[in-house]
Amino acid sequence: MGKLKKLWDDRQNQYKYAKWLMKYTKPYLGRIILMMVFSLSGTVSSLVMVNLTKKIIDNATEGKEFVTLIVGYLVLVLGLQVVGVISSLMSTVLNEKFSFGIRKQVYEKIINSHWMDVKRYHTGDLMTRLTSDAGNIANGIIGTIPNIIILAVELLMVFFTLFYYSPLLACFALLVAPVAAIVSWWFGKKLKKLQVKVQESESEYRSFLQESLANLLVVKAFANEEYSAKRLTKLRDERFGWIFKRAKLGLASSTTMSVAFQLGYIVAFAYGATLIAAKTITYGTMSVFLSLINKVQSPIMGLAQQIPKVVSVLASAGRVMELQNIPLEEKEEITMKTEHIGVDIKELTFGYTEEKVLENVSLDVKPGEFVAIIGESGIGKTTLIRLIMSFMSDVQGDVNFYNTYGESIRANASTRNFIAYVPQGNTLFSGTVRDNILMGNLNATEEEIYDALKLSAGYEFVMGLPNGLDTVIGERGHGISEGQAQRIAIARAFVRKAPLLILDEATSSLDEATELSVLEGLQALTPKPTCIIITHRKSILQYCDREIKIENSKTVEV
Ligand SMILES: Nc1ncnc2c1ncn2[C@@H]1O[C@H](COP(=O)(O)OP(=O)(O)OP(=O)(O)O)[C@@H](O)[C@H]1O
Ligand SMILES: [Mg+2]
Repeated sequence: MGKLKKLWDDRQNQYKYAKWLMKYTKPYLGRIILMMVFSLSGTVSSLVMVNLTKKIIDNATEGKEFVTLIVGYLVLVLGLQVVGVISSLMSTVLNEKFSFGIRKQVYEKIINSHWMDVKRYHTGDLMTRLTSDAGNIANGIIGTIPNIIILAVELLMVFFTLFYYSPLLACFALLVAPVAAIVSWWFGKKLKKLQVKVQESESEYRSFLQESLANLLVVKAFANEEYSAKRLTKLRDERFGWIFKRAKLGLASSTTMSVAFQLGYIVAFAYGATLIAAKTITYGTMSVFLSLINKVQSPIMGLAQQIPKVVSVLASAGRVMELQNIPLEEKEEITMKTEHIGVDIKELTFGYTEEKVLENVSLDVKPGEFVAIIGESGIGKTTLIRLIMSFMSDVQGDVNFYNTYGESIRANASTRNFIAYVPQGNTLFSGTVRDNILMGNLNATEEEIYDALKLSAGYEFVMGLPNGLDTVIGERGHGISEGQAQRIAIARAFVRKAPLLILDEATSSLDEATELSVLEGLQALTPKPTCIIITHRKSILQYCDREIKIENSKTVEV
C-alpha cells in the first residue's frame, strides 16, 4: 500500500513540475515551435529529395528532361543548409536566454527570501541548482521536448504510410506502443530517483570544492592536503556510483525496448514470409513492409532514448522548484518619518531549532540611545540583531520601530532601509574599496565616502594603499588586514547615514586607540543615530547610555 501511495504522490509531483515548466516555457513557445517547424521541414525535404532522386534517375533512363529537377534538388539542398544554420543559431540563443531566465528568476527569488530559509542550503548546493539544474532544464525544453514532438510526428507519418500498405501490421505496431509506454514509465520512475541522487552528489561535490578552496588556508594549516584530495576522490566515487547506476538503468531500458522491437521485426518478417508463401503479396510489398517496420522502429527507439533526458529535466525542475517555493519575505512601504528611530521589542521568542535561543524578550531602545548588548559567547546576541533585521522566519512576538512623532512600523524587509549594520566577522566583497563602501549607499559622493572613512578611522590607511579607494581587494577582504577590513565595513555602514546603527563586535580586531577613535567618530555622526552595540569589551561601555545583558534566553538591564 505504502508503495502505491508513494507512486501516486510522485505522480502528483511530476505533474506539478511539468506545470511549472510549462509556465516557464510560455514566453518561448513561439520560437520553440518555429525551430520545430524548421526541423520538420528538414524531414519533409529529405523525403522530397528521395522522391526527386528517383524521378531524376527514371527520367534519365527514359531520355526525358531532368535538368530542372537537378536545379530543384540543388535549391532544396542549399535551402536546407540555410535553415540548418538559422535553427542552430536560434537554438544557441534560445538555450542561453531560457537558462538565464530561470537563473535570474531563481536568483531574485533567493535574494528576496528570508535569509534563514535560504541559508539552510549550502552555497555549493544553491550554485548547482542555479547552474547545472537550470542548464538541464533549458536543454530539456529547447532540445529534448521539441525532439520528442518531432519524433512523434515522424512516427505518425510512417504509421499512416504503413497502414496504407497493411492495416494489420500497422495495428501490430500500435500494440507495441503501450508496451513501450509501460516499460518507459517503469524505468523512468527509477531513473528519476537516480537522477535526483546524481544531482545531489553533484551538489555535495561542488560544496566541498567551493568550501575547501575558500578555506585553503585552513586546509594547509592543518596539513589536510592529502585528506582533502582523498575526500574529493571519495565524493567523486560516490557521484560516479550514482552515474554508473543511472547509465545501467538507462541501458536496461533501451535494451528492453530494442529487444521488443527486434521481436516485432521478426514477427513482421515471419508474417510477410507466410503471405509470400501463400502468394498473397509480392516481393516488392514484402520489402516495403520490412523497410516501414524499420522506419517505425527508429522514431520509437528515438523516443525511448529521450526518456532519461525527460527524467533528468523533471528531476532538475523539482530541485529548482524547491527554491522557488521558499516564501518571499514581506516588504511594507515605510510611510513614517525616519529621523529618530527607536526599537520596541515585545515578547520575542525564537529558536533555530526546538530549543529557544531567546524567550519572551522585551526591550525598548529609545531614539538616540546608545545601548550595549553584552553576554557570553553563543548566548544569542547576534540572534537578537538578526531578529531586529528581520532575517528570520517563524518568529513569535513583535519588533516595532517608532519615531518621536508617535508613528511606528512593524519590522520587515523594508525597514532595513533605515538601518546600518556592521555584521560580525569579515563581510567584505572582492572588488575595490570604493565598491565595498558604496554597498552601504549606492548614491554616496566621493566626499561622503571620505567622511565615512575618516569617522571609521580608515581614511589614513586607505589613502596609504597603492590605489587608494580604487585598490582591489580579494574575497573576504583578502589583501588587507582584519582590522582594516573591519574599518571598511564600518565605513560602509556609516556612509548609509541611517538613523539606526547596529554594530556586532565591529571593533573586535582594532587596537584600543583605533577603537576609541571609531567610537568618537560614532558620537560625531550627524544626525546622531540610535545605536545598538554588541561588545565583549569593557572600554566601549563608557560610550553607552545603557547596558543590556543576555542570559538564560532573557535580556537583563545591568
Ligand atoms: N544558523 C543557525 N542555526 C542553528 N543554530 C544557530 C545558528 N546561528 C546560531 N545558532 C545558535 O544560536 C545560539 C546563539 O547564537 P548567536 O550567534 O546569537 O550567539 P552570540 O551571542 O552572538 O555569540 P558570539 O558572542 O559568540 O558571537 C548559539 O547557541 C548558536 O549555536
Ligand atoms: Mg555573535
